[in-house]
Amino acid sequence: MVPKISTLSGYIHEYQKSVANPTGFWANIADSFYWRKKWDTILKWNFNDPEIEWFKGGRLNITENIFERNLFQHGEQKALIWEPNDPSESIIELTYEELFSEVKSFANVLRNHAVKKGDRVAIYLPMVPELVIAMLACARIGAIHSVVFAGFSANALSERINDAQAKILITADGGFRGNKIINLKETADEALLNSPSIRSNIVVKRTNQKIEWNTKRDFWWHTEMDKVMDEASAEIMDAEDPLFILYTSGSTGKPKGVVHSTAGYMVYAAYTFKNVFQYSSNDIYFCAADIGWITGHSYIVYGPLLEGATTVMFEGIPNFPNPSRYWDIINKHQVNQFYSSPTALRSLIAEGQQWIKDVKMPSLRVLGTVGEPINEEAWHWYHDHVGKNKCPIVDTWWQTETGGIMISPIAGVIPTKPAFACLPLPGIQPVIVDAEGNKLCGNSVEGNLCLQFPWPGIARTIWNDHPRYVKSYFSKYQGLYFTGDGVRRDEDGYYRILGRMDDVINVAGHRLGTAEIENAINEHPLVVESAVVGYPHEIKGQGVFAFVVSNDIPMNAIEELKNSIKKGVSKMISPIARPDFILFVDGLPKTRSGKIMRRILKNIVEHKSDFGDITTLTNPEIVDHLLQIYNSMEK
Ligand code: WT7
Repeated sequence: MVPKISTLSGYIHEYQKSVANPTGFWANIADSFYWRKKWDTILKWNFNDPEIEWFKGGRLNITENIFERNLFQHGEQKALIWEPNDPSESIIELTYEELFSEVKSFANVLRNHAVKKGDRVAIYLPMVPELVIAMLACARIGAIHSVVFAGFSANALSERINDAQAKILITADGGFRGNKIINLKETADEALLNSPSIRSNIVVKRTNQKIEWNTKRDFWWHTEMDKVMDEASAEIMDAEDPLFILYTSGSTGKPKGVVHSTAGYMVYAAYTFKNVFQYSSNDIYFCAADIGWITGHSYIVYGPLLEGATTVMFEGIPNFPNPSRYWDIINKHQVNQFYSSPTALRSLIAEGQQWIKDVKMPSLRVLGTVGEPINEEAWHWYHDHVGKNKCPIVDTWWQTETGGIMISPIAGVIPTKPAFACLPLPGIQPVIVDAEGNKLCGNSVEGNLCLQFPWPGIARTIWNDHPRYVKSYFSKYQGLYFTGDGVRRDEDGYYRILGRMDDVINVAGHRLGTAEIENAINEHPLVVESAVVGYPHEIKGQGVFAFVVSNDIPMNAIEELKNSIKKGVSKMISPIARPDFILFVDGLPKTRSGKIMRRILKNIVEHKSDFGDITTLTNPEIVDHLLQIYNSMEK
């Protein structure tokens, strides 16, 4: 098991060690894992011509580190507790032994379908245990999983399958979400019309609904599992072999396939899990994220299971059948650490105090939050009403690309401040730079958040597009990894994340590229052009606001056009990306080189009246027009 920091002086000591001798620091942590062969070189790196390699020459399999390494101590212990969408349905509990057996069986199913080391497997599943089993079965045989969030549309799924050239798709007949049924198989069928690389589609039976069946391509999960044995050897991987791809949005173009490595990701996910949440043996840990995002990968699946923890996986949503659902789960399973998001908390605050005020949750010790800046009101509500003033909050800042938590309190060890991610974890060296890339030293400074030294969990590349990796993260500031976030370091050296500085917006903790949404809007035949910005939203943090230029639409057709544009976005991307507001305008503010000056649009929707220098606009008169239309719209 990885070492655990338990005092503030311990943190300071470890942090100093990690900066003075990063390779020695990480080698010591990596030593607690099970290697078939130890590494030759701890770290090779270059942030100018980016190539990063950790534990090169090492050989291992991450599932041997979850199972073989833990079984002796934890074989009988619960690995996974699955809580269904509907609380009247039975829970599922799998011990490490049982989960291992399922993983090995499904590894054999994949092998029967000719999946080999390095092949890509797309997984489009609701939050059911088969999702965890499928991911770990891929890892067992060295296949690269690409989990696609089950809220994505057929078009988005197909785009991700095609980019990775996945061989197999794993989906379900449907999924339950509150009182809704999600028709996953139907969406997958539609996606597969445009995804010829998929040879087999393995379908989990969950909702039992009627579905179409393609006898050449579709296979039931349970019938495939009946055909196999539960012994499967692990494929021994190189430290730097990819473990998974996870698509995320950037400021331009199509989604990026972020690639994580086997060994570095493993070491980082386990170390950060253990330390940030202060996990101790026999604790029950519950992360309410979806495994379709990186939070679920690192902190429902890999981090907890590597550390022999009991991880709770929840199929449903926070307000079904009522807004006490999380608190009921916490009490039912005696949860010790709970990890959630500002959006979920704000939506529960909005439901009223009656759902929390008399609830006692004596087992709770640590509360976590992730995904977007948490406002002070939500922070205090979480602290006072959920944590009853006795649980430290870990506000964890990180990204899909960082693989694990980067800046965060260590629960009970680092004193917290409301709405602050606080201090960097050991091994993490943040720097703040101004727009020109000058490092801002000392405290009480604000600027762009960069990292000046690699950590084991850093993404190694963008699938099939290393130049895009270089351009997205390493080209803006020489020799630094740029996160895209703004940050303030206060007088005590504490970090407060201010939000994205690029054209990425964060809607309910979901990361969306404005360019991606604009492309979807522009597909509409009546749209000439569009610009999307995030506007402040009480619950979702940000909402999607679209300025759209369209020719001569009759007044009585406006609502219809808005609806069909919104529908188009849902279909092209996901209902998550659907604009909350569409405003038809005569034109967009443009610079002489034809670029949309987004700053102006942002200021309008944020009700900031200072537009700065607008003399470089070719059409400065448009600003008054936009303001006038904006002010007269219904909000
Ligand atoms: C972006 C990354 C990390 C898992 C979920 C999101 C924002 C994330 C925080 C936080 C303020 C945060 C940043 C970051 N973000 N955590 N604690 N405080 N902002 O992963 O989809 O890759 O998004 O989420 O803007 O860059 P992601």
